[in-house]
Amino acid sequence: MNAKLIDGKAFAADVRARVAEQVARLKADHGLTPGLAVVLVGEDPASQVYVRNKGKQTVEAGMNSYEHKLDVSTPEAELLALVEKLNADPAVHGILVQLPLPDHIDEAKVLATIDPAKDVDGFHISNVGLLATGQKALVPCTPLGCLMMLRDHHGSLSGLNAVVVGRSNIVGKPMAQLLLRDSCTVTIAHSRTKDLAAVCRGADILVAAVGRPQMIPGDWVKPGATVIDVGINRIPAPEKGEGKTRLVGDVEFDSAAEVAGAITPVPGGVGPMTIACLLANTLTACARAAGLPEPEGLTA
Ligand code: GUN
Repeated sequence: MNAKLIDGKAFAADVRARVAEQVARLKADHGLTPGLAVVLVGEDPASQVYVRNKGKQTVEAGMNSYEHKLDVSTPEAELLALVEKLNADPAVHGILVQLPLPDHIDEAKVLATIDPAKDVDGFHISNVGLLATGQKALVPCTPLGCLMMLRDHHGSLSGLNAVVVGRSNIVGKPMAQLLLRDSCTVTIAHSRTKDLAAVCRGADILVAAVGRPQMIPGDWVKPGATVIDVGINRIPAPEKGEGKTRLVGDVEFDSAAEVAGAITPVPGGVGPMTIACLLANTLTACARAAGLPEPEGLTA
């Protein structure tokens, strides 16, 4: 392996420590404790794990965690009423409604009901528009985490060719907006892109966010490029025993790491940064609500 390994686990621990430090200062100087409310509808096992981890890390950072677990059959109106209640609660600075929601609930309607100033996921249309027009927004956590790691590795991103593979609202599109804001030349590629290999080979920064296991091989990577792998895919791992699985990214790690200048592993790359950035966004939302300066080094 030639590439430098970008250690997301260590980076996320550092972000959480910086959040905790600024939370402590907010408490000491202003008597304020940031609060994050997480709403989970139903019992999806992966979502339950996420929510548990969010709650634990929120408390470890010195913030208040409010968990609302609703039955899978909860009517949409009841969920909307809860969101309105959290919007009005001054102890709650961040609101996250865990996705996916059950089929009978209109996701867009729920996201549109969250107060944009408390929308720590950055999914509300107001925050999407603020980001796209270069204004102060709350930015989706995964792309924010990727941006922090890229800034740390490169210093300035100005003038670099960035290719984002994947056009989702949660990762691909906001990632492209953030890179554009840092003066990259940005291409968004996707499943219909012609000669995806050639497009990827032009990237100084390659962000893979397609959700297809190991679809980007090393020979699509420009020598010396920085590769950020957002994919988390579970594949069979018969070498570990019958019925066993392992996690892989959207990039074929071993071949890409021979060519790239730097690369994030899966697991232990982008993944741990998402919750760390959720905590950062909650702190940011709290500081803004109180009219205090932006947290240092934790915003886009
Ligand atoms: N489900 C999986 N990841 C996320 C996330 O980052 N935010 C929300 N709201 N739901 C999710």
